[in-house]
Amino acid sequence: MFKVSFKGKFAGEVDLDQELNLLGAAAKGALPLTHRCGGHARCGTCILTVESGAESLSPVGAAEARVLKILKAKEGQRLGCQAWTHGDVACRVD
Ligand code: FES
Repeated sequence: MFKVSFKGKFAGEVDLDQELNLLGAAAKGALPLTHRCGGHARCGTCILTVESGAESLSPVGAAEARVLKILKAKEGQRLGCQAWTHGDVACRVD
């Protein structure tokens, strides 16, 4: 069992017992992480900042990297729909 926590625009914690992306974790907790493209790494609206637990996330893939570059993402920012976690993660949504 591990935990994903969100703060910023909304706040909440979600307990997970299997790998899930951060967008899915937010949805599981009924937290309103925006996802206009439906989780297909096209819109960038699910962007968030990982404050801890980055080592528990899947690596940035090509599609995510392309969107993060377009968005001029800062260090630690990920797309919630593309970052899969298998451990505790804390993130902020601005
Ligand atoms: S939901 Fe569109 S990029 Fe993540």
